[in-house]
Amino acid sequence: MIACANPLAQFHSDKSEIEQAIHRVLESGSYILGSELSGLEQEFAAYIGTTHAIGVANGTDALELALRSLDISTNDEVITVSHTAVATIAAIEAAGAVPVLVDVDPDFYTLDPKQLAEVLTPRTRAVIAVHLYGQAADLDEISAFCQKHNLILIEDASQAHGAKWRGQRLGSIGQVACFSCYPTKNLGALGDAGLITTSDTALALKIRMLREYGWRERYVSELVGRNSRLDEFQAAILRIKLRRLDENNGKRLLLASHYTKCLAGESLRLPGIREHAEHIFHLYVVKTDNRQSLMAHMKAQDIYPGVHYPMPVHLQPAYKGRLRTARSMTVTEKIAHQVLSLPLYPELSMAMADQVCAAIKGVK
Ligand SMILES: Cc1ncc(COP(=O)(O)O)c(C=O)c1O
Repeated sequence: MIACANPLAQFHSDKSEIEQAIHRVLESGSYILGSELSGLEQEFAAYIGTTHAIGVANGTDALELALRSLDISTNDEVITVSHTAVATIAAIEAAGAVPVLVDVDPDFYTLDPKQLAEVLTPRTRAVIAVHLYGQAADLDEISAFCQKHNLILIEDASQAHGAKWRGQRLGSIGQVACFSCYPTKNLGALGDAGLITTSDTALALKIRMLREYGWRERYVSELVGRNSRLDEFQAAILRIKLRRLDENNGKRLLLASHYTKCLAGESLRLPGIREHAEHIFHLYVVKTDNRQSLMAHMKAQDIYPGVHYPMPVHLQPAYKGRLRTARSMTVTEKIAHQVLSLPLYPELSMAMADQVCAAIKGVK
């Protein structure tokens, strides 16, 4: 069986270190907000190139708390894409703000900066740039727009741990950035986890307070916060994974270029790499008009690609008809029927990648 992602294989790669780390935490007697988390926060901030990193319970909370820390709330509008994990939009609404969705560009499937002006209103406060599939959104254009209109730029880097834009790590470019460390992510925990990065010290303090009941001092809620703490087990596991992140991203890149070589000439649109972007291939997403039969053919050979994402958020039952979007969402609505994520994870062997290519090549 070849799956789209394989967190179990990743666990096996790091098994003895992870087991030792779990034992260390068990014996430490400190299970919440201890030295593993502060170690992870320092190491992740240093890796990304920000002054601060703050661990939270998951990527959705990371986005919600980042928005709250910026006082983005009722009636404030936040522009982002519909072609993303539903979490991006769910977090905006959880913060009490209003999501406004634009289309993606047809080449790299990230936020189309040309549409930003159309949806801008006096209530627009921020843009969330989602670095989809492992590469940067068009940060030059998006940052320029944000600067011109005095908007806050938030990065959703949940699919882009370690990727770069003009040589700088994603997560260090916006005022604040959010990462999911869901198990299948390039930096994945063995459970839920999230991280927020920023170089704004006041903001970092506020996020730390918001993740624990608004406390600066224990039992004194200066802000209305909640519980979104990252536990010591996940923090210890993420420290191990962080040490291997560049090496594992390198393996993903080799597999991606192998796919690109093997599949050239097939009737598929292969992923492109945007100029100035260093892609880390969280997902290798091809576009096909033949998705159903291709998936059925692959399944018959015990290969299970994924679809990210099969339905744009503005068309999902819980959101349909009530979210403001740009006039044209053509690319988003079309690619939802075409995108297909081929199996890709650091432990996937070249022989397995060849099997995937052979399965695709067999389809007429
Ligand atoms: C782009 C994006 N944003 C946000 C999230 C939400 O993260 P989590 O599942 O950790 O809450 C994810 C993860 O699925 C994601 O891919």
